[in-house]
Amino acid sequence: MFGIRIVFSLLFFTFILDQVDVLENGLARTPPMGWMSWGYYMCGVECEKGNDKCLNEKLIMSVADTFYEQGYQEAGFEYIIIDDCWAERHRSKRGQLIPDKKRFPRGMKFLAEYIHARGLKFGMYTNIASITCMKFPGSKGYFEVDAKTFAEWDIDYLKVDGCFVTENYLKTAYISLGKSLNETGRPIVYSCSWPYYIKFVHDNEPDVGKVAKYCNLWRNYHDVVMSWTSIMGVIHFYVENYEKIAPYHGPGRWNDPDMLIFGTGALSNGQTRVHIAVYAMWSAPLLLSCDMNKITPYERKLLLNLNLMAIGQDKLGIMAKPYMTDGDVIIFVKPHQPLKGNAYPAFSFAYVNLDIFERDIYFSPKIYGLNNTDPYTILNVFTGVYIRNMTAFESMNIKIPGHDVVLYTFYPL
Ligand code: GLA
Repeated sequence: MFGIRIVFSLLFFTFILDQVDVLENGLARTPPMGWMSWGYYMCGVECEKGNDKCLNEKLIMSVADTFYEQGYQEAGFEYIIIDDCWAERHRSKRGQLIPDKKRFPRGMKFLAEYIHARGLKFGMYTNIASITCMKFPGSKGYFEVDAKTFAEWDIDYLKVDGCFVTENYLKTAYISLGKSLNETGRPIVYSCSWPYYIKFVHDNEPDVGKVAKYCNLWRNYHDVVMSWTSIMGVIHFYVENYEKIAPYHGPGRWNDPDMLIFGTGALSNGQTRVHIAVYAMWSAPLLLSCDMNKITPYERKLLLNLNLMAIGQDKLGIMAKPYMTDGDVIIFVKPHQPLKGNAYPAFSFAYVNLDIFERDIYFSPKIYGLNNTDPYTILNVFTGVYIRNMTAFESMNIKIPGHDVVLYTFYPL
């Protein structure tokens, strides 16, 4: 009974939030997946010979080719997003932003066409202030002009940063830039950094519910950097703030823990599994940021694991709930599709060991809301092996190596 109630209240909650308080652009019904330049290429303006961190049209086209040719697109990777440092230092005489003439000689509409021709989507970046975080022209005073320019360039996604402005300005500016985007009539996913700046720059509690009314996704926490410590920081932040942010998370409105750090050599295989498992369990946006040629065969296998991606792209979009156990094991629990008979959802469990030593846990599914009276069949998501059938009332022991995760999906039979 308790289980049924949990599941129905979750589903009901999702349904209610779908009816009210949601940005009415119909976009990002599942969390965006793709690639974004910042994490690895940062402000790659120096493209002289031999510099492998050059942000230019060739790079963007090569990411589109890789997505198209190497199976990423079929796995759901779709958006290719140029972050900061793409523009000329001055606007045109008519006040428009101009792409850097050397690095983007054919302009952004050309890139949009190139990306769209491969069935992919194109994203760009601006800041809500007069300059961007890296001091390129920003959109303050130009919301309508810039929204029109971006729409003319056929972009599908806009990341809007929040450096260098006051808290009061943040509260109104994101709403009016979103309105200007909507008025263009072009469907553009709206990614905001608003709550991050409220919390970490202005030292206040963000109203995530309000942000969710106006933005499709939003950053809550610091920029990810290429290290395990950074990923642990993200996990701890989201675990500690789960109750505050999870209710606003769902189709069309996503908490964004920032990019994946695949392809950077920063993580062991076990840490890489933790990173991707937790992000999928959260229904977080999955945005790579790396030289796509540096993704290892094992990382690629994870990114193209359709059982894993299906957890992240589940249509219910429920953010997995964390349960702390003794020691450093966190169990993340996520109900998702398929539902048996419209009543019994599948559940995924990520048993994450943040300690360096192997841990053994004793696991009883009934505690976490599993309510099917028939057994479940259990898939080990990383190995692709169905390990056994089991009822919600049985228990099992699970061994989790240090800095690693075991990820099981329980499908109701
Ligand atoms: C901020 C953002 C990053 C990136 C840079 C660009 O730090 O959080 O994701 O967009 O600005 O300057």
